[in-house]
Amino acid sequence: MEDLRNKYLELVSGAADEAALEELRVQAVGKKGEISLKMRELGKMTPEERQVMGPKLNALKDEINSALAAKKAALADAALDARLKTEWLDVTLPSRTRRQGSIHPISQVTEEVTAIFADMGFAVAEGPQIETDWYNFDALNIPGHHPARAEMDTFYTHRAEGDNRPPHVLRTHTSPVQIRTMEKTGAPIRIICPGRVYRADYDQTHTPMFHQVEGLALGKDISMANLKWVLEEFFSAFFGTHVETRFRASHFPFTEPSAEVDIQCSWEDGQVKVGEGNDWLEVLGSGMVHPKVLEAGGIDPNEYQGFAFGIGIDRLAMLKYGIPDLRAFFDSDLRWLRHYGFASLDQPTLHGGLAR
Ligand code: PHE
Repeated sequence: MEDLRNKYLELVSGAADEAALEELRVQAVGKKGEISLKMRELGKMTPEERQVMGPKLNALKDEINSALAAKKAALADAALDARLKTEWLDVTLPSRTRRQGSIHPISQVTEEVTAIFADMGFAVAEGPQIETDWYNFDALNIPGHHPARAEMDTFYTHRAEGDNRPPHVLRTHTSPVQIRTMEKTGAPIRIICPGRVYRADYDQTHTPMFHQVEGLALGKDISMANLKWVLEEFFSAFFGTHVETRFRASHFPFTEPSAEVDIQCSWEDGQVKVGEGNDWLEVLGSGMVHPKVLEAGGIDPNEYQGFAFGIGIDRLAMLKYGIPDLRAFFDSDLRWLRHYGFASLDQPTLHGGLAR
């Protein structure tokens, strides 16, 4: 008995891994293990012998089982230690400051616009960039044959052959979010919808993906006068100086009447300055929401009315921060990003100040 005990305790303590341990377990206390066979012999003993040998064999079996379990835990600990050693990290090393990122001007301007409109009670709403033809066009009073569809240089998705449903589109403007919000919340509404939009166009002031922010205010007695005040407040806060606006009659299928809005500026040596001078720069489209659009959004045009506008965020960023070429916004050139980017901890707020 003593020999058996010494033999197995020694083997267990020397086992190299879990597989070796399992082999030892089978060999000693498995069904046909050495100790199990010895236990079977108890049956052939006299009761007196059995009374001595029974407890001894049981104790031996227990001892070997616990040695196996202890060794198994020790092997697992050693494996963990080895792994921790290879994953060692010196947390006292200085950080690599030169790799610090910056906030892209588009993100910065989106935050600024959001802060200004939030102060006037506008919430932020969002919608999908891949839209149905209905939300992007029909619901906005742009039926199938309407020339605006072609004017917007729309990207259409491809449908499988034989699938006759109208294709999805990459939204050409943020106006579909108006409809989605009307459906979701009903009137009254006061929202802005910033986001990406897509049109097949590419030159110094056009990229196939760009950004707009849509505004929508619906209520029982909202008028063009409210629109003008809101936009003037916005431009003055955004550019940090009083900015005159000029409303020019225009046409959009989704607003009636419609106006394009120019802001006051000066041109000197090819440089544009907002809020001074005698020139005008067109920056946005706006108007009173067309009754058909309200209906498409499930709102009764006899009860509610309101204004909508759409501004290009990229355009605003170029004007405010003097960035000449729109295409560079999306080139991911690190030198450009370092030059035009914003410190990541400077969140624009009205009380803390917007960037100048
Ligand atoms: N959706 C128009 C555009 O892209 C802008 C606009 C929005 C005009 C809301 C009027 C009202 O170009």
